[in-house]
Amino acid sequence: MLSCIQPTGDVHLGNYLGALRNWVAGQHENDAFHGIVDLHALTITEAPDVLGQATLQLAAMLFAVGLDPDEATIFVQSHVPEHSQLGWMMECTVSYGELTRMTQFKDKSAKRQENTSTAEFISAGLFTYPALQAADILLYDTDEVPVGEDQRQHIEITRDIAIRFNHRFGDTFVLPKAVTPKAGARVMDLQDPTSKMSKSANTDSGLVYLLDEPAAVRKKFKRAVTDSDSEVRFDRAEKPGVSNLLEILAACTGGAPEALAAGYTQYGPLKADAGEAVIELLQPIQARYHELMTDRGELQSLLRKGAGKAREVAAVTLARAQAAAGMLPA
Ligand code: TYM
Repeated sequence: MLSCIQPTGDVHLGNYLGALRNWVAGQHENDAFHGIVDLHALTITEAPDVLGQATLQLAAMLFAVGLDPDEATIFVQSHVPEHSQLGWMMECTVSYGELTRMTQFKDKSAKRQENTSTAEFISAGLFTYPALQAADILLYDTDEVPVGEDQRQHIEITRDIAIRFNHRFGDTFVLPKAVTPKAGARVMDLQDPTSKMSKSANTDSGLVYLLDEPAAVRKKFKRAVTDSDSEVRFDRAEKPGVSNLLEILAACTGGAPEALAAGYTQYGPLKADAGEAVIELLQPIQARYHELMTDRGELQSLLRKGAGKAREVAAVTLARAQAAAGMLPA
C-alpha cells in the first residue's frame, strides 16, 4: 500500500476523511509506505523557506493522526532520489495527449490564471506532475492506493503508464488500484458545496483544518451553505450542502448518510451535530500534534529512517526498470 500527500498548506478535513484515516486503518495489515511529496509541491511553491517547514509540520500531523513509524514507512519524496529518476522514465512513457486530458492540470492552471499574482507562470512540472506520481506509486510495487475520489484519474493514468511500459519492455511494474472510503471520499467546501474542499480555495471559510480551534470549527459549520427549502435528505445532486454535512457526520460517527438524514427535520441541529462530531475527532489529534512539534530533531530522525527503508525498495524497482529499458548499468 502506498499513498502520498503534498506539503502545501495545512491539512484539512477532506485530506483526513478521504485519505489519512485509511492510511492509519491499513497500516497493520499492509506493507505501508507514505510519502510527503515535496517535489510535487514545487510545481506551485515559489517562495523560499516554506517547503522544509511545511514538510516537517506535515510529518508531525501524519504521526499525530496515528501513523506509527514502526508499522508504516513515512518518508520525504526528495530524500528518495529514485522518485525523480523513475519520474523521468515515466515522462517518456506517458504521452502529451494523455497529460492534456488531466483535469487537475486544467483546474490548477485555470486557477493560477485567475489570480493576477500567479497568472504568468504555469510550470512545466504542473503539466508533467502525473508522471512523477506514477513513479511514486510504481516504485513500491503498490497494489492499493488509498486516496480520495479526486485522485482516481491519477491512479488510472498510472495504470495506463505501467501497462504501456510492461508492453514495451516486458513485465516490470505491478498494476495498482485506487481504494476510496465509503463516506468522506469527496468532502466538499462548506461555503461552495459543489467544489471539493481544497487548499487552493479562494477563502478559508469553507475549509476545516485539522488544527482549527473548536470555536472556529463551530463557526464554519454554523455558516455552512445549505439551500432554501428545509428538507433534510441525502441527495448530492439536488442538495449538495446538506448531503455534504450528512456525509461528514457519517464519516465521523460511522453511520450511513441516508439513515442519519431521518434523524433531522431542520438544518440547524444537523450543522451543530456535524460540527461537534468534527471537534471531537480533532481534539486528540491536535494534542498529539502540538506535543510532537516540540521535538523537531526526533521528527527529522524518524523521516531519515523512513527514507532509508523506502530507498531499499525503490532502488530495486528502479534498477529493474532501467534494466528492462535496456540502459547500460553504471
Ligand atoms: P493532495 O495532497 O491534494 O491530497 C492528499 C490526499 O487527500 C485527499 N483529498 C480529499 N479527499 C476527500 N475529499 C477532499 N475534499 C479531498 N481533498 C484531498 C486526496 O485524494 C489525497 O488522497 N497528487 C496527490 C499527491 C500524490 C499522491 C502520489 C497520492 C503524489 N503522489 C502517489 C497517491 C499516490 C495530491 O495532490 O494529493
